[in-house]
Amino acid sequence: MGIEFGAVTEKYIDDHTDDVSPLLRELVEETEEVTGLSRWSIGKVEGKLLQLLVKISGARNAIEIGTFTGYSALIIAEALPEDGRLITCEANEKHAGIALRYFKKSPHGGKIRLELKPAMETLKGIADSSVDFVFIDADKPSYGRYFDEAMRILQTGCLIFVDNVFWRNKIFKQPITNANARAIAAFNEKVKNDDRAEKVMLSVRDGVYLIRKK
Ligand SMILES: C[S@@+](CC[C@H](N)C(=O)[O-])C[C@H]1O[C@@H](n2cnc3c(N)ncnc32)[C@H](O)[C@@H]1O
Repeated sequence: MGIEFGAVTEKYIDDHTDDVSPLLRELVEETEEVTGLSRWSIGKVEGKLLQLLVKISGARNAIEIGTFTGYSALIIAEALPEDGRLITCEANEKHAGIALRYFKKSPHGGKIRLELKPAMETLKGIADSSVDFVFIDADKPSYGRYFDEAMRILQTGCLIFVDNVFWRNKIFKQPITNANARAIAAFNEKVKNDDRAEKVMLSVRDGVYLIRKK
């Protein structure tokens, strides 16, 4: 019953959400063919939410932690103004190779700089209060450290968007045995208890946390 209802609402939500650009649909197909992991990308509904948030927040200098094959980076780049910039962090050469190819195909690709190294190294090189949007979607055990860095580099009043905060619903089944789920559960508590941040958790896809630096 629950599962059936979930599938019905998901289809309804999908039907009533704008489609993404044809290039993004092509990227999903190639990602599935080459990696078999297209489910790692945020997909249409979460992608459109991210696009609207980038647009209405007026972001110009965004950071993404976890590029994979470039779906969410292109989602963000499409939503940025002409002079907007996105630095995206990816440590895996194969994933980055596909992403870079698609950035070249997109009229918005020129806004994106991919840093091919561990995300923490890139983040350490970014000045305090110098960016206005952060998207966290890489290795789950590092989420707490990525949040600390995001709070440091983010300007006051700006947003952090975090993916996978339900970790495939594994955070709800006690005791939590899965290592990624334990890391995510600890991350969620850390954010909840941080008074420097205003936040709302949403049950979009695998759970997202929207956090505004006060
Ligand atoms: C879930 S995928 C990102 C999906 C992407 N945001 C999207 O929606 O299309 C996570 C990515 O983070 C990368 N990653 C994992 N650990 C990393 C690290 N320490 N530094 C940089 N990238 C990392 C992985 O190689 C993988 O490509």
